[in-house]
Amino acid sequence: MSETRTVAELDQEAAARRALEDFYRDGKPPWDSGITPPELVALIEGPGALMPGQALELGCGTGTNAVYLARRGWRVAAVDLVDRAVRQAREKAAAAEADVTVLCGDATRLDEVGVPGPYDLFFDLSCYCGIPPHRRDAYAAGLTKRAAPGARLLMFGYGPGAFDDTWSGVTADELRARFAGWELADVTPGTNPVPTFWFTLHRAAAAA
Ligand SMILES: C[S@@+](CC[C@H](N)C(=O)[O-])C[C@H]1O[C@@H](n2cnc3c(N)ncnc32)[C@H](O)[C@@H]1O
Repeated sequence: MSETRTVAELDQEAAARRALEDFYRDGKPPWDSGITPPELVALIEGPGALMPGQALELGCGTGTNAVYLARRGWRVAAVDLVDRAVRQAREKAAAAEADVTVLCGDATRLDEVGVPGPYDLFFDLSCYCGIPPHRRDAYAAGLTKRAAPGARLLMFGYGPGAFDDTWSGVTADELRARFAGWELADVTPGTNPVPTFWFTLHRAAAAA
C-alpha cells in the first residue's frame, strides 16, 4: 500500500533521524549505558521467566540487550535506524560470540526489513516514544503481524513533556488505543527524574 505523507510529517521524520544520527556520530550517546535493565533481566531470569524463543528488539542501539537475550538462549533479531549503531551492535555481538541478526531499518516499516517472525518477545527500550506520532500505528501493526500467540512486548518509554518538543513521549492510554488485540498488562513507573514507564503488553493467546 502506498504511503501518503505530508511535508510536515516528512520533515519531522527527517529531523528525528538526523538527530539520532548526530548522537551516534558525536560519539557514545547518553543512553548507551551498556547495562541491561533489571526489568528485562526479571522477565528473562526472574520468577515466572519466559521460556526462550524468538525475540525482536526495536531500536537496539549498540546491541547490549540483544546480546544479553542471545546469551540467555533466545534467537534474536535487532533493528535500528542508524547504521553506525547497527555496526557497533554487530561488533558487540561478534565480540560476545552471540548469534544476533542485526539489521538496519525502520521499526515502523518492518516489511522492508526482513524480520518475518513470529516473535514471542518484542523489546523496546526508548525507541517507540521517540517515533513521530504519524508512524506509530504502523509500528503497532508491524508487531501485531509478527506476534506469536501470547507474545509479550516489554517497552520502556518517556512520558510526554520529557523532551523539548511537542510530540515525543508515550502514555498507557495511547498504547491501549494503538495496540488492538493486545492487553496492557502492566505499567510501572521508571525511576528517572522525568516521567518514564515500563509497559508490558500481551498479545492474545489465540487470534480473536
Ligand atoms: C534512546 S535510543 C535507545 C537505544 C537502545 N535501545 C539503548 O537503550 O541503548 C533509541 C534508539 O532507537 C533507534 N530508533 C529510533 N527510531 C527508530 C525507528 N523508527 N526504527 C528503528 N530504530 C529507531 C535510534 O536510532 C536509537 O538507537
